[in-house]
Amino acid sequence: MADVLTLTGLSWSVGGSAILSDVDLAVGEGEFVAVIGPNGAGKTSLFNLISGLTRASAGRIAVDGADITGEAPHRRARRGIGRTFQSSSVFPTMTVAEHVALAARVGKAKQSDALERVRLTRRAGALAADLSHGDKRKLELAMLLASGAGRLLLLDEPMAGVASGDVPELVAVIRSLHRDEGRTVLMVEHHMEVLLGLADRVAVLHHGALLAVGTPDRIMADARVQEAYVGEAL
Ligand SMILES: Nc1ncnc2c1ncn2[C@@H]1O[C@H](COP(=O)(O)OP(=O)(O)O)[C@@H](O)[C@H]1O
Ligand SMILES: [Mg+2]
Repeated sequence: MADVLTLTGLSWSVGGSAILSDVDLAVGEGEFVAVIGPNGAGKTSLFNLISGLTRASAGRIAVDGADITGEAPHRRARRGIGRTFQSSSVFPTMTVAEHVALAARVGKAKQSDALERVRLTRRAGALAADLSHGDKRKLELAMLLASGAGRLLLLDEPMAGVASGDVPELVAVIRSLHRDEGRTVLMVEHHMEVLLGLADRVAVLHHGALLAVGTPDRIMADARVQEAYVGEAL
């Protein structure tokens, strides 16, 4: 299994405080890695570094073996790195279909059947403002697919704000992008029951350092991980 993403000694400091320290992680082609860790552990900061929103203070980020540590975000997107944020970002007054058309133009990729693949075709004519949180998440995924930035998906708490009744469908969409289409996924998620059905491996961040990486079963049983979560729900 070739590595899609390789992080080596990745560190990020801001205002003199170390937010991420010496993170080493290799993610294989088609692998699903969940990133967990208590609030403030550095999960979003890690995604910021990988997507190019912020620049590493030290260390290296490679995609397909090519060093992209200093590369601009739009160039990373062209390599297929797509990212969603903790809060949904859609244009309320645009329809679902208009979003995907825009994304396809920006990425100069074919519009394809992005809506079909996220099970949103029936809402194509709806305004984004009228979508449920779950459907907004699906729309964001469709935009990444249409823009061509859907090879390595960085999903930051995609279930946040989604009604519990809509979670299984969103999980099914993400699972199908991974299992059926072979996309590589890195996903921050708090709900272990969601992760157990999706992740090949779980990476645990704690105070900006990688505490443990392993199969979901091993991570759940890891005493150090349980200790890191004292006072918080796993
Ligand atoms: N731009 C920033 N400036 C200063 N501190 C930041 C910045 N971004 C994040 N942090 C700090 O870095 C730590 C990790 O934040 P974050 O990556 O958002 O954690 P998580 O996503 O795991 O909850 C927190 O203590 C946060 O306050
Ligand atoms: Mg976060």
